[in-house]
Amino acid sequence: MLIALLAGDGIGPEVVAEAVRVLEAAGARDLTFEAAPVGGAAYKAEGHPLPPATLDLARRADAILFGAVGDPTCDSLERHLRPEQAILGLRKELALFANLRPAKLFPELADASALRPEVATRIDLVIVRELNGDVYFGEKGMRKTGAGRREGYDIMSYNEDEVARIARVGFETARARRGRLCSVDKANVLETSQLWRDVVIEVAAEYPDIALSHMYVDNAAMQLVRDPGQFDVIVTGNLFGDILSDQASMCVGSIGMLPSASLDANQKGLYEPIHGSAPDIAGQGKANPLATILSAAMMLRYSLGQADVADRIEAAVAKALARGARSADLGGAMTTAQMGQAVLAGL
Ligand code: IPM
Ligand code: MG
Repeated sequence: MLIALLAGDGIGPEVVAEAVRVLEAAGARDLTFEAAPVGGAAYKAEGHPLPPATLDLARRADAILFGAVGDPTCDSLERHLRPEQAILGLRKELALFANLRPAKLFPELADASALRPEVATRIDLVIVRELNGDVYFGEKGMRKTGAGRREGYDIMSYNEDEVARIARVGFETARARRGRLCSVDKANVLETSQLWRDVVIEVAAEYPDIALSHMYVDNAAMQLVRDPGQFDVIVTGNLFGDILSDQASMCVGSIGMLPSASLDANQKGLYEPIHGSAPDIAGQGKANPLATILSAAMMLRYSLGQADVADRIEAAVAKALARGARSADLGGAMTTAQMGQAVLAGL
């Protein structure tokens, strides 16, 4: 099976390298790795953040292991040349519409959470985020108002088919877990959200066994820190999911801990840590590789049919944490490579 390694910018290459070490040591079966540039690194080397050869590799591969994109030195480029366009382009071109972002507290990290330990220990949720639509992909631009003032705009929209297909992923995810789905929207203000809510309710008829609830996004943000244990599966749009998943990450201790899977309709997937390129610590060996290592485990489970190896890797991460492995984001001083080594020792 061919794995595309798209390490990207900032800390991306450092954390992907540790994940590959772990995949090899964990005994993942018949994997071939092929690397290609992406993001700011690709722009600098080839003049485009998602060069055709990189997109072609991503298409050919059975799964994609992704690091991060984002480079402050590229921030003044035209938008279509900026590093972030690489990940947005991959999600769209490969129709990776379903983003699964599990947030579960490793008990050893209860003290690293931004929440009180007794609140934090109850977190075990999955955010199902739509990835191919919303304000991310609507018409956007800069224009002048009648008075000659500058105005930026981004159109938010979802059609009913887009909502229905992500709603089904939400219901299926809930069915495989504790049977509760919370749909997050802003239906009190946005028409896009009203349609979202209407369609989720229609799809719910196919899932009488699932307890469906609805929450406005502002309330959801509040409830996530007040009582995150109330959530099982959250299904939401692209923008709200982006924001809520970063928030959930601090509830479980660190943004350096959260993996993700972005899947198409056939379980082909791109796997990436939810943190970004962290340019401020890039190249210093300070990054926590656990989110990427856990993303590699998700890849084995969802796209490669090697759940046994995924279990082994997840258990090794838990063991490393239990034995005290802590990178800087977790309040420790271990380097990226030492964290990877600690996982290898736990295998
Ligand atoms: C994420 C990131 C991306 C997003 C950026 C890098 C475009 O924040 O995967 O959450 O906004 O989706
Ligand atoms: Mg984000």
